[in-house]
Amino acid sequence: MEIASLIQSAWDARENAYAPYSKFAVGAALLTGDGRVFTGCNVENLSYGLTICAERVAIGSAVAAGMKNLTMLAVVADTDVPVSPCGACRQVMAEFGIERVFLANRMQTIEFELSDLLPRAAAGILNRAE
Ligand code: THU
Repeated sequence: MEIASLIQSAWDARENAYAPYSKFAVGAALLTGDGRVFTGCNVENLSYGLTICAERVAIGSAVAAGMKNLTMLAVVADTDVPVSPCGACRQVMAEFGIERVFLANRMQTIEFELSDLLPRAAAGILNRAE
């Protein structure tokens, strides 16, 4: 799977964003260890705090299909600087060991290791060491 293709899947998913409150559409695409792609878009709610980010929709979709070996995630939005996942999404990515994260806008893609986006994600929680 080429990174460019994963990013295109994220753009396609962004078309389905439900963002009537922020008007900020986000798309995500997630690659599994066996080469399948699951996508997500943000899903907002009148009760703003119930909003689910595109990243967590994609991860939930993969897990619901029985996939837990998740390798890389692409996130896209039409911003000046590539969009960056919120802290909650970073923690959920850590849960499933998604190591490579691609952040893209229309002009550029930048790659991060999750350990740089969220250092020490599991340290101290439920006695987990790192
Ligand atoms: N959002 C995402 O879906 N992913 C991100 O990485 C950044 C933020 C959504 C949440 C909300 O619907 C809108 O973007 C504005 O924050």
